[in-house]
Amino acid sequence: MKKINIAIDGPAGAGKSTIAKRAASELGFIYVDTGALYRTVGVFAVEEGVDFDDLEKLEKLLERTDVKLKYENGVQKVYCNGEDYSGKIRTPEASLAASDISKIPMVRAFLLSLQRDIAKQNDCIMDGRDIGTVVLPDAQIKIFLTADVEKRAKRRYNELLEKGEKVDFDDVLEDMKKRDYQDSHREVAPLKPADDSVIVDTTDIGLEESIALMLRTIKERL
Ligand code: DC
Repeated sequence: MKKINIAIDGPAGAGKSTIAKRAASELGFIYVDTGALYRTVGVFAVEEGVDFDDLEKLEKLLERTDVKLKYENGVQKVYCNGEDYSGKIRTPEASLAASDISKIPMVRAFLLSLQRDIAKQNDCIMDGRDIGTVVLPDAQIKIFLTADVEKRAKRRYNELLEKGEKVDFDDVLEDMKKRDYQDSHREVAPLKPADDSVIVDTTDIGLEESIALMLRTIKERL
């Protein structure tokens, strides 16, 4: 039977992962965080000393890159060549490496079938930048989750503070603006709402309200 696929796209810090994770658990679907895939390839390339502009070296690197998503007690883990990368991909450096490497068409093509295979085999909520437009154009439901950039930066800043990291708000805001620009201006699969997506703006609503709104939007369409 055809699986139910829900695509959630939107800029960094819009709350996609938190909201999608909760909605997926309510619906009994798996939650697929595709940003983790780009982060893993970005971190692995940095670790291996491969310059992102050197496409020949990058191609060779991808030939020996085996990225896998696994679900442990419902929690997504990402592995690269058998090593758990789930922790080390959550740094500001990994965010920028992911945004940089995700511009490269070869990298996007490399990760495409992995994402499509998961969606073919599972009822899922998949979040990313190009899920509704490129990865799953036939997804039954497409949501574009967004919020004002200052608000997104503030949320990310608070998250980092809670984790005990010393950060400057202006740096977080600049990083966010840089990623927004890069993600929406790249040539291949730029961040933009699919024509048939529902836009959900969380600038003026809190987390619980955003989750409720997301679930309502999904249930109305299921
Ligand atoms: O969702 P995230 O912040 O973990 O994503 C990290 C970067 O990966 C993001 O800046 C752009 C890229 N990305 C992408 O190009 N396409 C996706 N489907 C998901 C993420």
